Amino acid sequence: MADDPLVQAAREAQAQAYAPYSRFRVGAALEAEDGRVFTGANVENASYGLGICAERSAVSAAATAGARRFRRIVVVSESDPPATPCGACRQVLAEFGGDLVVEAVGPRGSGRWRLDELLPAAFRGTILDAAARGPAL
Ligand code: THU
Repeated sequence: MADDPLVQAAREAQAQAYAPYSRFRVGAALEAEDGRVFTGANVENASYGLGICAERSAVSAAATAGARRFRRIVVVSESDPPATPCGACRQVLAEFGGDLVVEAVGPRGSGRWRLDELLPAAFRGTILDAAARGPAL
């Protein structure tokens, strides 16, 4: 676990978190099916509701680079139990498939789930299917 490169990447992202309001720093590392790793940190704002979570930052980086299929996301925080993705992030992650493995890592332990355990019956829209997530979109 400590030597898991995805955990290491999430820790490095956590160090870049911009969280002057909550002081709660979060890092995420998202591993694509092709092995690429995309990271994100929470970025807060003086207008509190505009802050973005680490997980959605990572999804934006990944999608911008063309990645559409993912294996695993690691989320690192300092809470015990460790922070799991919020509801909004679960929905955003679910866009790319419910079989994603989600790992939450904190100072005193970790948890591991499939995304569809964390967000059963996710809203899937009306047209999404595996083909629609392909390179054309
Ligand atoms: N936060 C994340 O970035 N990811 C989580 O999984 C939980 C919450 C952020 C949002 C906000 O910047 C701060 O943590 C406190 O909620």
